[in-house]
Formats: sequence, C-alpha cells, structure tokens
Amino acid sequence: MPHTREDPERLVSAARAEDENSFELKLRPRRLAEFIGQERIKDQLAIALEATRARGEALDHVLLSGPPGLGKTTLASILANELEVPFQQTSGPALQIQGDLTAILTNLRERQVLFLDEIHRLQPVLMEKLYTALEDYKLDIVIGQGPAARTHVMELKPFTFVAATTRPGLLSSPLRSRFGILLRLDFYSDDDLRFIVSRSAEVLGIEIDQDGAAEIAMRSRGTPRIANRLLRRVRDYAQVRGPGRIDRDTASQALAMLEVDAHGFDELDRRLLLAIIEKYQGGPVGLGTLAATLAEEEDALEEVCEPFLIQIGFLDRTPRGRMATRLAYEHFGIPMPGKQGGLW
Ligand SMILES: Nc1ncnc2c1ncn2[C@@H]1O[C@H](COP(=O)(O)OP(=O)(O)OP(=O)(O)O)[C@@H](O)[C@H]1O
Ligand SMILES: [Mg+2]
Repeated sequence: MPHTREDPERLVSAARAEDENSFELKLRPRRLAEFIGQERIKDQLAIALEATRARGEALDHVLLSGPPGLGKTTLASILANELEVPFQQTSGPALQIQGDLTAILTNLRERQVLFLDEIHRLQPVLMEKLYTALEDYKLDIVIGQGPAARTHVMELKPFTFVAATTRPGLLSSPLRSRFGILLRLDFYSDDDLRFIVSRSAEVLGIEIDQDGAAEIAMRSRGTPRIANRLLRRVRDYAQVRGPGRIDRDTASQALAMLEVDAHGFDELDRRLLLAIIEKYQGGPVGLGTLAATLAEEEDALEEVCEPFLIQIGFLDRTPRGRMATRLAYEHFGIPMPGKQGGLW
C-alpha cells in the first residue's frame, strides 16, 4: 500500500461530506409538485412558469434568499426541470476571473437556467459584468491591452439567471433590480417537515410512522436539510438497536443518544443564546458587541442564525439590542434573573 501522509481524520470527514452530498441529491425533489411547503413561493413560480411556457420565452431572472438548507438550490434545479431546459450551476466564490464568467455566459444555450449560488460572494468587478448581461443579454468584452484595447459587445442567448443567497442584505440595489422574481424562503412548519421526513423515508426505503416522523420534524430547526440528516442517523439506530422501522420511541431514543437538542439547535445557536444569558445577563446587548464576543460577522448572525431563534420565541430584537427570552432560559435550565435585576 502506498505510504500516505494524509490525515486520516480529514479523509474520513471528506468521505462523509461526499456521502452527505449524494444523499442530498437523492432526496432532492425534482418537480414543483414534490416540493413541500413554501406555498406562496410555489404559487408565484407556478404562475410565472405557466406564463413563460405560453409565451415561449425565457423565465424572468429569479433571486432566492433565505437561511441555509431551506431549498434554494432545490428550487433552482426544479425550475430547469419544469421548463425542460438545461441546468448549469456555479457559485460566487468559484468565479475568480472575468474569463470564468465570460466563458459561462457565452456558452449558454437558449432559455437555459444558469444558477449562481452565494451570489453575495461574487467579486464586485464580475458583479458589474453581470448587470448588462442580465439586463439586455449583452456582454462587453475587452480585446487587447493598453491604448490599443477595444471593447466588443457580444450578444448572449436569452437565459434565466437564478441566484441564491443567505445574505440578501449584502446585495446592491442595482443588482437586486435586475431580478424580476424575488423570493424569500421561510423556515418550515413542523407539519411540512413531517411530510418531508415521510417522503424522504419512502425514497430511502425505510418504514416510519407519523409519530416517528413528527419526533424528527420537531427537532429539525425548521430546516429540511437538518430533517433529512436526522432521519438518516435515526435510520442507522433503528437498524442496529431498534425494531428496524422508525416509531416515536425509536426516534426519541436515537435523538437522545445523538444529543440532538429539543429544537435541533446548532453550536452557534447555543453559543449565541448562552453568551446573552451568561455574559450579558440576558441582554439587551448590541449586535456588534455580540458579534465580537462570538467572533462571528454581524450579517451572518443577523441573517443566518437569528431568524430561527426569533421565530421560535427564544430571542427578541429590541431597539436597545438582543435579549434572551424566558423560553431560552428554560431551555438551558438556567434560572432567570429576578425582576429587580432590571427589565424582567
Ligand atoms: N421543500 C422541500 N421539500 C422536500 N425536500 C426539501 C425541500 N427543501 C429542501 N429539501 C431538501 O433539503 C436539502 C437541502 O436543500 P437545498 O440544498 O436546496 O438548500 P439550500 O437552501 O440550497 O441550502 P444552502 O444555502 O446551504 O445552499 C435538499 O437535498 C432537499 O432534499
Ligand atoms: Mg444551496
């Protein structure tokens, strides 16, 4: 066997990530009708799709925003499937030089979907190139260098640009105005997540009852990706230690063993709430201070982490700063400071 200096830990986690990706791909709905929840968004898209098909044109450009794992990439690929056009995917960080973007844009096929993930991470010069491409399907190409340089305008095929971002606040308004359809995905209800878990179990060929699916749904942080991930881990447990199918007891035993929190919080959720409770006596604490304490970016906290905590009533955004609520204290089993402590 050849000697390798690769860190075995790293290899294992790389294998896991690959596994995880193929698993996500397998569970990804392909049609709008299979996409569960987000009814308002589905209605809007269904109408736009039908009108576009009737006119035989390219669909308007679409901007999808919302926290990770809610289905942005899934929706983008569904649009291509529904329109029966090719789907091409790239991302903001993957495009490093103008040539990358030029090559992609000039090779587009009529009416196809071009999906750009993490558009907020696209370099500003490339962003400007995109403006004209999106507006009138034209691209300025500079030929030559120095005084002899000339600009050539290249015509592009009409295409549909679908972009996704977890941080819509970072997009400039000229960029935003290039999109005809702006959609913001919300966290899923427990009912929607229960459907998603049941559908995924069917795809994976594992038996699950309503209660078992509900138990997983509840602890999925309103997020289909987390629901699917938990389902996979519960499935392992059910096969090894349980009855081979998933009912409420199996699900709750497995989740307890995996130390999944009652709401499926991740590490940042916990760090954020505990910092407010332990370091700032429950708040209010300003976003800037909190970001510095946690060594995270303000925008990331505000757009990726906080929305779910606010939705489930664990965090309050007040004009004076963030506050942990009674529910948050109860969740961590920490007694809440008495009324004389101030705001409470
Ligand atoms: N509405 C839905 N119905 C069924 N499954 C869904 C739905 N939304 C998402 N999923 C599942 O969740 C997984 C994650 O979704 P997706 O990759 O589209 O999220 P995302 O919003 O693009 O996340 P990120 O911001 O991290 O790129 C998909 O593999 C898919 O199986
Ligand atoms: Mg994605």
